[in-house]
Amino acid sequence: MMNLSSRIRPSLLKAVAPACARAMSADAKLVDLSINEKTGIATLTMNRPPVNSLNLELLQGLSKALQELEDNRKCRGMILTSSSPTVFSAGLDIMEMYKPKPDRVKAFWSTLQEVWLQLFGSSYPTVAAINGHSPAGGCLLSLSCEYRVMVGPQYTIGLNETKLGIVAPKWFMSSMLAAIPYRQTELALTTGRMFSTEEALKIGLIDEVATDKADAIAKAEKFLGLFAKIHPVARKLTKLNLRNDALDWLQQNRELDLNIFLSFVNQPIVQSSLEKYLEALKNKQGK
Ligand SMILES: CC(C)(COP(=O)(O)OP(=O)(O)OC[C@H]1O[C@@H](n2cnc3c(N)ncnc32)[C@H](O)[C@@H]1OP(=O)(O)O)[C@@H](O)C(=O)NCCC(=O)NCCS
Repeated sequence: MMNLSSRIRPSLLKAVAPACARAMSADAKLVDLSINEKTGIATLTMNRPPVNSLNLELLQGLSKALQELEDNRKCRGMILTSSSPTVFSAGLDIMEMYKPKPDRVKAFWSTLQEVWLQLFGSSYPTVAAINGHSPAGGCLLSLSCEYRVMVGPQYTIGLNETKLGIVAPKWFMSSMLAAIPYRQTELALTTGRMFSTEEALKIGLIDEVATDKADAIAKAEKFLGLFAKIHPVARKLTKLNLRNDALDWLQQNRELDLNIFLSFVNQPIVQSSLEKYLEALKNKQGK
């Protein structure tokens, strides 16, 4: 295994991990991964300024880090967070879908599928420490974890795909359904609703509110501590049995799901909708 500790930003490591933490191999530019050797808790930090939009390379970095944790027998849990002070993740990088290059967009979607399968189906427990806005793919990543602590009250979270004229695939829906009831999921998805921290807590989209990132990490660690005396194999099999239908659907239908996405994203009406959304982002008030 490569030792990438020298490539991980020292300031970031210091902020998220105590002295006994060891940097693990990961794409150090876009993803920081460290593990506390004493507790076995890993911290995976998305690090693609300005907003952690999920492009192919960030997804590849996440996938590699998740695999590393899966292979690390010392890992007792993982906290997913962001190095940005205000954004957890802005979701899928719209530039990957706008006027897409055929090979790249295929790799992009396939890697997103892979990351979801790895995260939703991880054998170790997972918590999202949501330290900023978390729309769309950001919300998906946090919903794929088992527990969500979100800094409030100023940030928002939700699957807002319909607002961009795109459709959240079945496994995005399954992820939300794993957290909140069907009725709330239908309303949230069809309206593309973004929830305030308080609203998200009220419907169970998040589990706890934190005052700042340090508080979110502390709460995440406390949640992971619940498993200290639980047999890891019993825990893992319980989780995977509960999540099996959703995982199995994507495992069996990766090609179909990819083809649906490709034919959808290449439609002129979708491209024009993405173009308008991008323009609105660039021209929004305050810029
Ligand atoms: C996440 C968000 C709340 C952060 O707001 P913010 O801190 O004020 O940051 P900005 O909106 O200024 O974004 C910073 C830059 O990232 C770009 N950006 C933001 N989200 C992006 C995305 N999902 N994909 C690609 N670029 C994105 C912006 O266009 C902007 O680019 P510019 O600096 O060239 O103008 C806001 O960027 C946002 O709502 N993004 C869109 C989220 C979304 O709908 N995602 C769905 C993807 S399917």
